[in-house]
Amino acid sequence: MIIDGKKEAEVLREEIKKEIISIKKKTNRVPGLAVILIGEHIPSQIYVKNKEKNSKEVGINFNLIKYSHDVSQEEVLNKIKELNNDNSISGILVQLPLPDQIRQVRIVNSIDPSKDVDGFSPINVGNLASGYNGIVPCTPKGCLMLIKKIEKNLSGKHAVIIGRSNLNGKPMAQLLLKENCTITITHSKTKNLKEKCLKADILVTAVGVANLVKKDWVKDGSIIIDVGINKQGDKIVGDVSFEEVKNKVKAITPVPGGVGPMTIACLLKNTLECFKARLT
Ligand code: GUN
Repeated sequence: MIIDGKKEAEVLREEIKKEIISIKKKTNRVPGLAVILIGEHIPSQIYVKNKEKNSKEVGINFNLIKYSHDVSQEEVLNKIKELNNDNSISGILVQLPLPDQIRQVRIVNSIDPSKDVDGFSPINVGNLASGYNGIVPCTPKGCLMLIKKIEKNLSGKHAVIIGRSNLNGKPMAQLLLKENCTITITHSKTKNLKEKCLKADILVTAVGVANLVKKDWVKDGSIIIDVGINKQGDKIVGDVSFEEVKNKVKAITPVPGGVGPMTIACLLKNTLECFKARLT
């Protein structure tokens, strides 16, 4: 089975849109999302454009704040302070990667954790690691939703994650642990990666290596979630050799049209959740 992330994201966006309409009727307020984009990094510009389009479609007020690549850290920190204190802003996102003069840790630490729609602030990371409620990073949140469309009860499943990033690998592991999976996190220094992947009931890969995972790396009947986005000629492909793997496994996400649309839909969901938390 091929998991249709585009369709699942559409369903989620529709739910979000309905909820925003209903809250607006009662309160005359809508969520506001502020996105800070620094420099001319082309993929970042494309991602932010998509976030803007999707936000507007569901009725979120989208505020784009653009800086040139040589903006000072202080100027960005001052803007974040202003957004933290702005009642019309429910969520703040600083698009990564950042230029060298800006330290990511300073930025991530400066965002009010209750507006941190990326779930990258230490408070939200700590909440997730402790199994408490908090804001969960969008990509792993979307991945888990797709996995649960296929398999409701993940208890006792062996999940193998390729990649240990703060954006995906680490929070993905925490989420699947909360679902009572047994977790193996692998990375560039891992030995015998193929053998480890072969033990996976659920395999999540986010490393950015085209066609890394081949047919003889996956177990029959497993669930494969491909977070990779790689350019191959004029095509975008994932980390998994999709054509040869798809007939061996129970379910697999395509690239594009798998995890990507769900990530953005989860950003909208996080923004709505931050907005609702402020209403009460
Ligand atoms: N750059 C690539 N993915 C992301 C993301 O999920 N959030 C932010 N802030 N930047 C990114």
